Amino acid sequence: MTENRSTVRISIDLELGPSAAFDTLVDELKSAFERVGMRFIPGADGRIVQKGIEVGRVVSWNPGEKVLLQWHPADWDSAYTTEVELSFQVSNGRTIVVLEHRGWGQLVGGPAELAGWFAGQVTAPFLRVTSPAAFGDWLTDRGARRPYGAQARAVYRDPLYHYPNFRVILAELALKPDDYLLEVACGGGAFLKDALRSGCRAAAVDHSPDMVRLARETNCQAVEEGRLEVLEATAEHLPFPDATFTCAAMTGVLGFLPDPVAAFAEIRRALRQGGRFVVAGSDPELKGTPGAPEPMASRLHFYLDRELEELGRKAGFHEVRAVRRDLEPFAREVGVPEEHVPLFSGHGARFLLARKQ
Ligand SMILES: C[S@@+](CC[C@H](N)C(=O)[O-])C[C@H]1O[C@@H](n2cnc3c(N)ncnc32)[C@H](O)[C@@H]1O
Repeated sequence: MTENRSTVRISIDLELGPSAAFDTLVDELKSAFERVGMRFIPGADGRIVQKGIEVGRVVSWNPGEKVLLQWHPADWDSAYTTEVELSFQVSNGRTIVVLEHRGWGQLVGGPAELAGWFAGQVTAPFLRVTSPAAFGDWLTDRGARRPYGAQARAVYRDPLYHYPNFRVILAELALKPDDYLLEVACGGGAFLKDALRSGCRAAAVDHSPDMVRLARETNCQAVEEGRLEVLEATAEHLPFPDATFTCAAMTGVLGFLPDPVAAFAEIRRALRQGGRFVVAGSDPELKGTPGAPEPMASRLHFYLDRELEELGRKAGFHEVRAVRRDLEPFAREVGVPEEHVPLFSGHGARFLLARKQ
């Protein structure tokens, strides 16, 4: 059967030096494996674990050069092992990263079967992820819908272009020290940082593990003092008891929600009687502009005033009102570069104000 052993090879060239390429890839692989239900422990004694079983073991670990793993593709045949090598080859100031899986195919059952495996398990999935639908989804998720990776962390640590919305929400909420604020979809926690200056307590959720970690880091002092908790959860299933919060906020997320009424109803449930709720809208006028560019734009839901109010009413809120607020003065106040201030001018951005009776 050994004649059926084969090598699968895939490579990419990156405009990075080998050390940077190595560090970036190791960092990305940790969270990438997590997302597919596997755990990658990097380092000379590193391993890759799936459902408690060691699937890969590091045999050699040379940062910036090469990593070699012994791989166990079949837990029903522990004698069958393959080799996985990740190498970093320098070429004209770039680094060619090559992933090679050697000795693959022994249990596949013949060359035609191996071709079938390659077509179905490698070629079609690879081309699918580079097709418009999946690639657009990936870009949208990575940058905004469920942000992760170093670039997203840098953006959401200090999201300058979101600060004008934050200012409007803070003005509407007029937080006091005895408030208990809920923020849904908190991203990197920049809004929380501003909100906590009022002396209030807060809790927040986001469904991106990277954003939850970042929001905790951004607000580490408030977390340590017990004034803030940040949990990984979805807007539609909040891990808080009924009637907990005095107010709630949501910004930069409405357009991504597949079922905004369910999310609003969940927020209403977690609010106390009289609890106030402020949501940044998702304005149709922004579609295709730098505020909502493609491929995100065609994956977002947009709402006019009447539609926005209807979402609030359907979720059981009272005193529901869509309002327009001029973001331009806030854009100047927070230091948006003058040439970008016009992005915040014009019709006024929509916000939904609501209250739980
Ligand atoms: C564009 S970011 C905005 C982050 C932050 N609110 C801000 O304005 O900087 C959208 C955030 O919503 C989160 N998100 C999207 N859908 C969500 C859902 N259904 N439940 C929880 N979080 C969600 C994403 O993970 C991401 O952090």
